Amino acid sequence: MNILIVGGGGREHALAWKIAQSTLCTKLYAAPGNPGIAAHAECVDVLVKAPFRELIEWCRAKAIDLVVVGPERPLSEGIADALIAGGLRVFGPTASAARIESSKSFAKELMQEAGIPTAEARVFTDPDEAHAYVEKHGAPLVVKATGLAEGKGVVVARTNAEAVAAIDSMMRAKAFGEAGAEVLIEEFLVGEEASLLAFADGSVVRAMDSAQDHKPVFDGDEGPNTGGMGAYSPAPVVTPEMYERCVREVLEPCLATLRKRGIDYRGVIYAGLMITKAGPKVVEFNCRFGDPEIQALIPRLENDIVEVMLACIDGRLGEIALKWRDAAVCVVVASGGYPGTYAKGKVIEGLDAVPKNHDVIVFHAGTKSDGGKIVTNGGRVLGVTVKDEYLSVAIERAYQIIKKIKFEGMHYRTDIGRKALDRVKK
Ligand SMILES: Nc1ncnc2c1ncn2[C@@H]1O[C@H](COP(=O)(O)OP(=O)(O)O)[C@@H](O)[C@H]1O
Ligand SMILES: [Mg+2]
Repeated sequence: MNILIVGGGGREHALAWKIAQSTLCTKLYAAPGNPGIAAHAECVDVLVKAPFRELIEWCRAKAIDLVVVGPERPLSEGIADALIAGGLRVFGPTASAARIESSKSFAKELMQEAGIPTAEARVFTDPDEAHAYVEKHGAPLVVKATGLAEGKGVVVARTNAEAVAAIDSMMRAKAFGEAGAEVLIEEFLVGEEASLLAFADGSVVRAMDSAQDHKPVFDGDEGPNTGGMGAYSPAPVVTPEMYERCVREVLEPCLATLRKRGIDYRGVIYAGLMITKAGPKVVEFNCRFGDPEIQALIPRLENDIVEVMLACIDGRLGEIALKWRDAAVCVVVASGGYPGTYAKGKVIEGLDAVPKNHDVIVFHAGTKSDGGKIVTNGGRVLGVTVKDEYLSVAIERAYQIIKKIKFEGMHYRTDIGRKALDRVKK
């Protein structure tokens, strides 16, 4: 099969690494890809923009058999709808299905209808009413822009003043444009976060193994939130009992309720969870693989991922059993200043010193080629991923490998996976 991956970050590198190993894949492309992806795929600069006409033409010219869409933005803009209408096979949900991510108010209503455990919340389109709600209920509260905001549209407000400031920044100053025209104010949940991703074929969900991301930029979960500074899988906070509950109380009712609404969800459903004393509660849904979680999940997956994706598209997921082995960790190496402003174009040294080994992969997130050198080109630059029978060994090796890599201003957390080790010790 000729396969195209849409996207060019760490998630798409992980997808390219895995898809390239499929016996079903004869030729792999990525649009736009990145220098890491270029080891597995031909990177092409076809325009990936609504209404996706150029992309459809390109796919036809290259006889593409399968398009795998990485990021949420094109999914929410209807890339799957357009490609399907153009006669192509695509792994990724349609725009109406992608609303589980692109509209937090849609997701909240869906959860309320399905009886999925989640934080109590209310939707506001009028900032004065939102202020009144804050006065009445009092902090801590969580204020969320309901549209897509690149992971920056959520404020966990410890005081009423913080909540009011967040409302004003989103609704009045339009910090996230139209994404903040509508705001969700929800109950503050206490617990440990975990991610449970699943494949879906419209009626069947197959949960993947659990994973855990590390959002705050500094060790000990200090500092501002990022797109994710590292991940590991499996996550011991999701015990076998908790895993079963998440499948039965979250993933299955989510897909069933979408179906009831006439939405045929095919692709990946990502449930961001808070594991509370009362059980799992959904923080959010995403309509695609989470990054960096995918970088810790994919190396552990034994199945041919193309087979799994085709089963989702064809409604045959019931025939597939997912198989996982070992544990894996991904430590993100970021640019100086990230998640604030940061410079690009810093030369990355030491990539050649990384052992060439199936259990060690340096996924490229924000890199580009520049005159024969690899330079930084984003906030999250690399995902240093190691798989091992023991998470503790994987973590130790990942940090040994990071010491070989250098670029000006680079930083990373030194405690990725520690929560898992502490929990297991206990
Ligand atoms: N109800 C909540 N209670 C406590 N923390 C929350 C709550 N909702 C969100 N958060 C925190 O904010 C982060 C981002 O929120 P999320 O809904 O996942 O938005 P996004 O990923 O789109 O930015 C979460 O990972 C979590 O740490
Ligand atoms: Mg999130």
